[in-house]
Amino acid sequence: MAGPRRFESALLRVKNLEESVKFYTKVMGLSEVMRDRNGIVYLACGLDEHPDMAIVEGGTGMDCFTMRVDTEKELEAYRAKLAERNVATDAGEDKEPNQKKWIRFKLPSSYVIEIAVIAERDYPRSQEPFIRSRPAHAPIDADHINYLAPDAKAELDFLNKVLGYAITDVKMTEKQDPNQWVWTGVRAGEYHHDIGLQPTWGDRESKLHHIAWTFTNMEHMTAMIDRVSQEGIMLELGPGRQPIGNISAYFWEPGGNRFELSTDMPMIPSGARTRYFWKREVFSWGGEFPKSFIKGS
Ligand SMILES: [Fe+2]
Repeated sequence: MAGPRRFESALLRVKNLEESVKFYTKVMGLSEVMRDRNGIVYLACGLDEHPDMAIVEGGTGMDCFTMRVDTEKELEAYRAKLAERNVATDAGEDKEPNQKKWIRFKLPSSYVIEIAVIAERDYPRSQEPFIRSRPAHAPIDADHINYLAPDAKAELDFLNKVLGYAITDVKMTEKQDPNQWVWTGVRAGEYHHDIGLQPTWGDRESKLHHIAWTFTNMEHMTAMIDRVSQEGIMLELGPGRQPIGNISAYFWEPGGNRFELSTDMPMIPSGARTRYFWKREVFSWGGEFPKSFIKGS
């Protein structure tokens, strides 16, 4: 069975719903596409028809994230595989805009993952965006999520063996023991990673580390960084090139979650072996991690 396809969206908690909607739409250039009766607001980058983020008021962090499969047959295959392992699933239809059937279940980290069949064209098309008024600096798409899990080994095992994600890169500790790692990225297809995973540091709670957004190139990313800085928001880290290949910059958005802006993510051929590496510097270009960077939301 093929793994699920790319990361689609995440449901985040934000401190103040209307302030966040204002920031995401007026500053980041996302578009509000729907509000539901549970107070959830769905936002989209607008090149394709599916929302890239949903938000709800109350706290910070992530409630749930969505991965996509192409067919109902694939969805059923997941449901059967999860039932074999006694993993309880919820199932339904049409919960979000442009979504068909979905199943939801808990990961070992206790985060809820949703696997969904999306009712839309297959890929973003710049020449005929779903939302024509989207500004040029808006991200192309939701890129990936990165979270912290207390038992990161069990989480990785589940993502790999049950859900079929390939393990792309493992960043080890300075001891360079493959069983002791500080970060790993897993991929559904050829995109370097759809999920980044880290062990929690001295905390038994799973936490969101960041949500990432895709940009066409450095110039596109610079336009967003300029726009965000005009609102008085400073970058926490970057921009710089990661040892895994992409260029990224991070900041804390007003809702209380960390966002990454990302471009130039490498494509990894299927079947490529997992790469184990260690590097002291945060970026291949140098620099150190700020202390705040181990914190999640
Ligand atoms: Fe990331």
